[in-house]
Amino acid sequence: MYTRIIPISSFSRFCPKILTRNLSSAGRDFIKIVEVGPRDGLQNEKKLISLETKLELIRRLTKCNIPVIEAASFVSPKWVPQMADSSNVIKALKDSQSTKYTSLVPNEKGLELAYSAGAKEIAIFGAASEAFSQKNINCSIDKSFENFSKVTKLAKQFNMAIRGYVSCVIACPYEGKISADVVASVSERMYDLGCYEISLGDTIGVATPDETRNLIRKVSSAIPIENLAVHFHDTYGQAIANIYASILEGIRVVDSSVAGLGGCPYAAGASGNVATEDVVYLLEGLGYSTGIDVPALVDTGRWISSQLERPYSSKAGQAIHAKSQK
Ligand code: HMG
Ligand code: MG
Repeated sequence: MYTRIIPISSFSRFCPKILTRNLSSAGRDFIKIVEVGPRDGLQNEKKLISLETKLELIRRLTKCNIPVIEAASFVSPKWVPQMADSSNVIKALKDSQSTKYTSLVPNEKGLELAYSAGAKEIAIFGAASEAFSQKNINCSIDKSFENFSKVTKLAKQFNMAIRGYVSCVIACPYEGKISADVVASVSERMYDLGCYEISLGDTIGVATPDETRNLIRKVSSAIPIENLAVHFHDTYGQAIANIYASILEGIRVVDSSVAGLGGCPYAAGASGNVATEDVVYLLEGLGYSTGIDVPALVDTGRWISSQLERPYSSKAGQAIHAKSQK
């Protein structure tokens, strides 16, 4: 349990940079990008792509120096067929000096499969909405925590790092608005299970900046802001504004997806995750460092879009590419 000696959230509201200062080699404050395209992006694509193409995507993203890539998801292949090759993905990935690979795991079976494949890090995923929990992982929130407790116990025995997701932090496609107090309580339960980072998921992409700030203030009064990340889908085009609001509140970890791939199979209306290219443009423009090779990232976004036969949808990526052609 996190002891509330100093309310970090209210302090960080006034001086977030002092609290979370983490300098890159370039001397600028560092913001960590967690690239979720190979999982959150591809899990929602109608066109099934080959294992080779998936691995090529992860290799290209690794070459861009992205610090964390969510590469796989050990869920039921009947529920999400696009992730059925996750064991082969993790087995094929070589350790990288610059990049950690992580995988979604919902239950003990998933954990065993992830461990056998050689995964070193997992992410459990729950929700702040009962209805979404039922639709997404076929159980109530309380039951999901019984599963997570078994999964995290095993993961710790196997020395695996554990990340956590809370979905529907602003609204649920079935229940509507979700209270920030409920999100704080679910996040705290995940933190208490040993998750080193909790990612707050705006699963259907409806958040606006003031709601985002309110949410982060509430959740960071329950767990340290250093242990929080944000995960925005861009359904209403507000993701960049919400990330800016999050940064102002002291958040220093942002999930995003190359070329804005993504969605959620159990959240009707959820469009892609915010594009990594757009997030990096925002953060570098604000004076932060991400360590990411932007031209290589744009090439990767264009390449995967062509593989999926879809238009390249990152605005920053399109502009950077057009400029490079002059
Ligand atoms: P269930 O049907 O209740 O599970 O599904 P079960 O224990 O009754 O097992 C049914 C069958 O699935 C059995 O096989 C199990 O062996 C198999 P059968 O005997 O019928 O042949 N099974 C598994 N197979 C492989 N890996 C496993 C596994 N577990 C059971 N881990 C379950 C429960 C959780 C498995 C299912 O509901 C499921 O897979 N759900 C995943 C849904 C999902 O992946 N959603 C997208 C990810 S969440 C997301 O995108 C949001 C996020 O991005 C944040 C945000 O945006 O908010 C993270
Ligand atoms: Mg998502």
